[in-house]
Amino acid sequence: MVLFSDICHYREIIRRVDPEDIREVTRHLFQESVNIIERYGGYIDRMLWDGLMAVFGMPCTHEDDVVRAIRAALDIRRMAERLGRAEAGCIGEPLSMRSGIAYGLVVTGVTQKESGRPGLTGDTVNLAARLRDLASPGEVLAESGTFSSAAGFFRFEALPAVAVKGREAPIAVFRVADAVVRPEKVRRVHGLKTRLIARGRELKQMRDAALRLHRQAGTVLTICGDAGTGKSRLIAEFKASTRRSRICWLDGYAYTYTRAVPYYPFIDMLNRFFDIDEADGDTVILQKLHAGLGRWVADGDTVASYLAGFYTPSSLETVVSDQEVFKSRLQQAVTCLLSVLSRKAPTIVCLEDLHWADPSSLSLIRCILREPGLPLMFVISYRSSLNFAHGENGERVSHAWEHIHLRDLDVAASRAMAQSLIGTRAIPEALDHYLTSRVAGNPFFIEEVINALIDAGRLKRIGNRWHFEDMVAIPDLSSTINSIIHSRLDRLGRNAKAILQEAAVIGRVFHLTLLRRITDFPEVLTACLDQLAGQGLIRRQADPHEPVYRFNYGIVQEVVYNGILKKERRTIYEKIARVLESDGRP
Ligand SMILES: Nc1ncnc2c1ncn2[C@@H]1O[C@H](COP(=O)(O)OP(=O)(O)OP(=O)(O)O)[C@@H](O)[C@H]1O
Ligand SMILES: [Mg+2]
Repeated sequence: MVLFSDICHYREIIRRVDPEDIREVTRHLFQESVNIIERYGGYIDRMLWDGLMAVFGMPCTHEDDVVRAIRAALDIRRMAERLGRAEAGCIGEPLSMRSGIAYGLVVTGVTQKESGRPGLTGDTVNLAARLRDLASPGEVLAESGTFSSAAGFFRFEALPAVAVKGREAPIAVFRVADAVVRPEKVRRVHGLKTRLIARGRELKQMRDAALRLHRQAGTVLTICGDAGTGKSRLIAEFKASTRRSRICWLDGYAYTYTRAVPYYPFIDMLNRFFDIDEADGDTVILQKLHAGLGRWVADGDTVASYLAGFYTPSSLETVVSDQEVFKSRLQQAVTCLLSVLSRKAPTIVCLEDLHWADPSSLSLIRCILREPGLPLMFVISYRSSLNFAHGENGERVSHAWEHIHLRDLDVAASRAMAQSLIGTRAIPEALDHYLTSRVAGNPFFIEEVINALIDAGRLKRIGNRWHFEDMVAIPDLSSTINSIIHSRLDRLGRNAKAILQEAAVIGRVFHLTLLRRITDFPEVLTACLDQLAGQGLIRRQADPHEPVYRFNYGIVQEVVYNGILKKERRTIYEKIARVLESDGRP
C-alpha cells in the first residue's frame, strides 16, 4: 500500500505568509503526520517539500494494511483541519491535506544515497502519486484494489474513471468519504456466499445458551480457532438466528491497529450501541451517552460520565487519581449498563477478536465475567494465539462457561463448501485435489482459492452458472491470502521465520534430522519448532522412529517458499544436496 499526502495550495500559502510562521506550522503538521503513520504501522519512505510518501506492508505486513493506510489518511486530514482552524490567523485560509492511495506491488530499488534506505518505485507508487494529484482539498482518493479490500470499513463514492500514464485502460477512482461506525470484514469472494457448512452442532449449542437467557440463566461462551476457521461466520449465523426473538445485542471488536488503545473493544461496543462517530468530540460523546442512557438509567449522568472515561482515560484519571478506583468505576458503569439492559430484554454481549485486545480490556472483561447477578450471554472470540482462560477457571466465572474450539473442515465438508460456493457439484479433479491436499479445510483459504481462480479467469460465470476453463493447474494465490500468511510470518521473529524457510525448501513434510543438519540456527531449533507448532503452522507427526514435521497447510509452505530470495533458496538446496550426498543418497 502506498500513500501520498500533501498540503493543498502550498505554493500560494508560502507566497502570502511569513516564511517563519509557515515553517512552524508545517513542521508541526509533518511531525503529526509522521506520528499518525507510525501509529498505524506505516513506513515513511520519503518526505517531500510539501508532503510525504508512506508505505504500509513493509517491512512488516499486517493483514489489514489497506485499512491502516486509509485510516492514516483520514486522521491526517482531520488533524490538518484542526491545525488549520487553530492557525487561521496566521495562514489566512483553511489548511487542508489531500491524499492518494494505491494497492499493489512496490519495487525496492537501489538504496538512496542520502537516507541509506531502499528507494521504492513501480506502478503502484506512480498510481498513488497520480491519485494524490487528482484529489481536491481534503479528499482521499483510492483505486479499485483498495476499494475492494476495504469496502466493509469505509464509505466510498465512485468517481468517473481517469486515464493514467502507462495504463491502457482508464482506471476506476473512488473517493473515501469516511469510516463506517459498524465496520464489517467483507471477504472478497466476487459476491459468492456459501451456506453454513458443518457447524450445526456449534450453532445449536449457541442457540441453546440463548434460550436459557429467557430463564435468566447467563452463559459465557468462548470461541477459539485459527484465522479463517469461521468464528465470525458462526457468530453472524447465530446473530441472524436470534433476530426474531427480541434480543438486545451489543458487540465490540478489537483490531490489529487498536492493540495499543486502552479498552478499545469497549469503546467500539459503545460506539456501535450509542451511534458514536469517531469524529465526535468529547462533548458530543457525553451527550450521546447521556441521551442513550437517560431512557433506562435513573442516575444517567454519573454512569455517562464514567463511560466517557473509556474515551478520555486521562480526564477521568485526573479526577480519580487512583488507578484501581478508575478501573472499578469503568467496571461499575459497564455492569450498570448491562444489568439495566438485561432487565429489559435478554441480552447478548459479543466481543470479537480479543487476541488483538489490550491488556486493560482483557483484565476488565475478566472482572466483569466474575460479577454475580448478570443474566447475560457473553460470546467471546479469539484466535488460538490468546490463552483467554489463562489464570481463570470455570468456578471463578459467575455464569456457566462453555467453550467451542473451531477446527478446519474435513475433506467432505471442504468439498461441500467449494460446491456450495460455486453452486455446482462438478468440481474439476485438479481443484478437488488442491483443496484437499494443500488447503486442508481452512474455510478462508478455500474461499481465497476460488477467488484466485476467478481473478485468473479460470472460473467464469456464464449466465447463471460457473464454468471452469483450462484447469490443469491452479494459478497463483490472490494477494489477500499472501498478506494474511505473511503477516503471521512477520510476527514469528527472525530465527523462527528463517527455520520455517529452511523447512519449506525441504518440503511439505520434513525430517528433524535433516533440518538439524542444514539449519543456521541449531541452538534454537527445538524452541522455534515448538513455537511454530504452537502457532498452528506446522505439526509433529506421530512417527515412532524419527521426528517428522508437516506444514499444516500446503499454501503456507508455498507462500514461505516463494518468499525466499532465489539466491538464498539455492544455498539451502545446496546444503540439502550435500547432506544427502554424504549419506550416500542420490
Ligand atoms: N462453516 C462454514 N461454512 C461456510 N463458510 C464458512 C464457514 N466458516 C467460515 N466460512 C467462510 O470463510 C471465511 C472466513 O471465515 P471467518 O471470517 O468467519 O473466519 P474467522 O475465524 O473469523 O477468521 P479471523 O480470525 O481472521 O477473524 C468467511 O468468508 C466465512 O463466511
Ligand atoms: Mg473473524
